Amino acid sequence: MNILDETFTLNTGATIPKIGFGTWQIPNGEEAYESTLLALQNGYRHIDTALVYGNEASVGKAIRDSGIDRSELFITTKLPAEIKDASKVQDAFETSMINLDLEYVDLYLVHAPWPWAERGADYRKENGEVWAEMEAIYATGRAKAIGVSNFVVSDLEALFETAEVIPAVNQIRYFIGNTQGDTVGTANAKGILTEAYSPLATGALLDNEELIAIAEKYGKTVAQISLRFVLQNDLLPLPKSTNEARIIQNTDLNFEISAEDMDYLNSLELSI
Ligand code: A2P
Repeated sequence: MNILDETFTLNTGATIPKIGFGTWQIPNGEEAYESTLLALQNGYRHIDTALVYGNEASVGKAIRDSGIDRSELFITTKLPAEIKDASKVQDAFETSMINLDLEYVDLYLVHAPWPWAERGADYRKENGEVWAEMEAIYATGRAKAIGVSNFVVSDLEALFETAEVIPAVNQIRYFIGNTQGDTVGTANAKGILTEAYSPLATGALLDNEELIAIAEKYGKTVAQISLRFVLQNDLLPLPKSTNEARIIQNTDLNFEISAEDMDYLNSLELSI
């Protein structure tokens, strides 16, 4: 089966296409518009953006112009990490909805447990309050699912103490050599799907000699090995590319990495 036709099922009961098109670092305007349209024309049905990427307007326009029925698409956007004052959540969501111009999103994520400039700071109390606003958005049906991003075990456990709705997703930085086993395990135990952003380590995996050797063995590229690795660990990869050949290559994943090679890849620790 073509990976583009395969789905995971969220804890809401909704299905989510197993490959998502990541748009981080694709500038708003022509580039985000063209690459999103190329992804859709090449069969992607799952697009991941964020208010802070600055490209929601172009991504939304590409989605509308694609002519693909909205019900066939899965669209994610995110609440900026800087918003830890619950009274500001609704406004940020409205801004994203105006930018995207799509009536609803399939998934709305809290972008990080702390503002980017204060990575690691303790915002557990504020995250609980922000989460209540996320639940209110979910209740309106304008976000069909809600979740988090960049949460580690302690962030998830703190959220579980007050959450009425368990997040559907935790989206984390995940690639061969950086697999955050504890965080994924905590999510799995609650039925939370983990999505992998930067599944190619933003390109840094591609010239790794060991991975090149494994890729050659399968007659695949390192990018394809990296994406297949994520899928075989039951996570959802969000590869990003602005190049049509690579956009297509990243969905040509109809092969299987052996259990032995998976064990080896899972044992790697790469400091990237
Ligand atoms: P480009 O947009 O020119 O294709 P990640 O998904 O981990 O964020 O990695 C994205 C980076 O990897 C981008 O620089 C992208 O460049 C590059 N990239 C994406 N897919 C491939 C591929 N199949 N082969 C080589 N490089 C790729």
